[in-house]
Amino acid sequence: MTTRVTKAVFPVAGLGTRFLPATKSVPKEIMTLVDKPLIQYAIDEARAAGIEEFIFVTARGKSALEDYFDHAPELETRLAEDGKDQLLDVLKSTYMPSGAIAYIRQHQAMGLGHAVWCARNLIGDEPFAVILPDDVIAAEKPCLQQMVEAHRETGGCMVAAMEVPNERTSSYGVLDVEAGQGDTMKVRGMVEKPKPADAPSNLAVIGRYILSPQVMQHLDSVEKGAGGEIQLTDAIAKEIDSPRGVFGHRFSGERYDCGSKAGFLQATVAFGLARDELRDEFGQYLHEMMAIRNAAQ
Ligand code: UTP
Repeated sequence: MTTRVTKAVFPVAGLGTRFLPATKSVPKEIMTLVDKPLIQYAIDEARAAGIEEFIFVTARGKSALEDYFDHAPELETRLAEDGKDQLLDVLKSTYMPSGAIAYIRQHQAMGLGHAVWCARNLIGDEPFAVILPDDVIAAEKPCLQQMVEAHRETGGCMVAAMEVPNERTSSYGVLDVEAGQGDTMKVRGMVEKPKPADAPSNLAVIGRYILSPQVMQHLDSVEKGAGGEIQLTDAIAKEIDSPRGVFGHRFSGERYDCGSKAGFLQATVAFGLARDELRDEFGQYLHEMMAIRNAAQ
């Protein structure tokens, strides 16, 4: 029996330099895919997985993110008066119960591992999830829910895994696993951002984790790793030889790297086309764009 996972940490304290100049004043996590900010996709996924406590690791300049979760009484009254019930429902779907959200500050962007460590006093002695909102995953069953279900069987730590082209391994943490284990794989090693020639596989870790509280203790002692940052992967790797172990879960769904411009644009197209009210007009436009582009080549 494993303990239920009810807490999730959302590290949102990064500088978001790849989206400058926008991120000078707009937190990356507030940028919208169609009409929802990235953070709302992450929250919806967490709620579907049974998360009840939401811990944001924020930083200077991220107040728009904190405000996003406030209730909006004037807007609510106006929508109700105008009979815009559907929009009112959309608005209310973003509301969170009082006390469900906590904000912790990361005073310096010292890396993902350090950001997670900043939440240690709110986690205590239970497993917890970590969600990186810039990884947006379109899936029939939300990715974290798939992982929570798999974690019920395994316990220990679990990371979301997906296959990437060999030449892309240096952008990810990469798993060393024995072949033929199905979608939930016991991990025997993890390497942060290996060159393709040094990569133990092409199974990359992406931004969903279920971690045991021991990982927080490891974060106390890990040194700066690749890129001079405190790497979460290094702390998780210390659990590989523990009796609980580390598992990679190959989720089903499509992941978009919305921390990069190309990934964000791809997600905008995919999520736009997935909307009933946009599909025809937007699809037609894309079609025409491609025809013009092909004719010009
Ligand atoms: P990224 O590596 O994408 O960094 O962080 P970034 O700062 O957000 O963006 P770029 O590379 O400058 O464009 C992955 C996740 O970890 C968080 C980020 O907010 C993002 O959700 N993070 C990263 C922190 O919370 N603190 C850090 O010190 C670093």
